[in-house]
Amino acid sequence: MNTMTLNAGEAVPAENKATKLAAEPPSVKNQAVKKPEEIAGTVGSPFCDEAKLRMRNVNVFYGETQAIHDVSLDIGRNQVVAMIGPSGCGKSTFLRCLNRMNDTIEGCRVEGELTLDGEAIYGSKVDVVPLRARVGMVFQKPNPFPKSIYDNVAYGPKIHGIASRRAELDEVVENSLRRAGLWNEVKDRLDKPGTGLSGGQQQRLCIARAIAVNPEVILMDEPCSALDPIATARIEELIDELRENYTIAIVTHSMQQAARVSQRTAYFHLGKLVEVNDTETVFTNPQHELTEAYITGRFG
Ligand SMILES: Nc1ncnc2c1ncn2[C@@H]1O[C@H](COP(=O)(O)OP(=O)(O)OP(=O)(O)O)[C@@H](O)[C@H]1O
Ligand SMILES: [Mg+2]
Repeated sequence: MNTMTLNAGEAVPAENKATKLAAEPPSVKNQAVKKPEEIAGTVGSPFCDEAKLRMRNVNVFYGETQAIHDVSLDIGRNQVVAMIGPSGCGKSTFLRCLNRMNDTIEGCRVEGELTLDGEAIYGSKVDVVPLRARVGMVFQKPNPFPKSIYDNVAYGPKIHGIASRRAELDEVVENSLRRAGLWNEVKDRLDKPGTGLSGGQQQRLCIARAIAVNPEVILMDEPCSALDPIATARIEELIDELRENYTIAIVTHSMQQAARVSQRTAYFHLGKLVEVNDTETVFTNPQHELTEAYITGRFG
């Protein structure tokens, strides 16, 4: 990719972007020490008109320990929102609230109002199985099922009743693998185990599996952290293509990646949402001193 899109429709040459980004990985020296209570509310624009996901005053606890403090954020339709911040600041915890993956963690409690298209995600009548089909997830470590490449993709459509006849399933499998940019590499070995693919291929297989059930939102938690630059570039291109049809929230430790793939960026620190703005603003003119310190590599 030679260009990237910072705002919808505005292509910026790659070398012009994110002028404040650190040249070196962040060092642990000179950390800007802050306690959660020293961070006031969120600066920037956490809300948007066309929200697909709306979160208000979200608090998350692991037992007695609070991991997320009063976070309010909208994620707009057909938008990629990047979530960045130092390790342990709560990015994964917050992301997992959006499809109730935290339900699977013993002792984890989520408070606040979270809605998907205006419907309560934590409503008492919500069945998490269809919810997680609507809000799919791709994890840091590719986790194909111990099944064939074909069955990895066909499994979801089968259990969700999207396709049942072989011809229908064949079509869903091919379409999903094509959209994930993997079809040409695997079309002659669909019956081979998914776990036999390379790391980058496995991650694209997991993306194909996520999109096979027609999700509306895709959550990605550091999807490229185990991949080489070529596989990473392929997945970043894919994210840009997927945005036409889906809403995407991506956690990343790579600020370059956040700058390349997202339209909005949310900066978390010690469980608080410090700043949300359009991505270009976050990386060129951050409003909060903590955001600036992080993106310029003064701590991380
Ligand atoms: N299953 C768990 N049980 C107890 N505490 C947890 C659990 N998962 C996360 N935490 C705590 O919640 C806080 C936020 O963790 P989280 O994994 O969300 O951070 P993160 O921003 O995703 O970090 P990283 O960038 O390292 O992935 C941390 O203090 C962490 O120790
Ligand atoms: Mg994490």
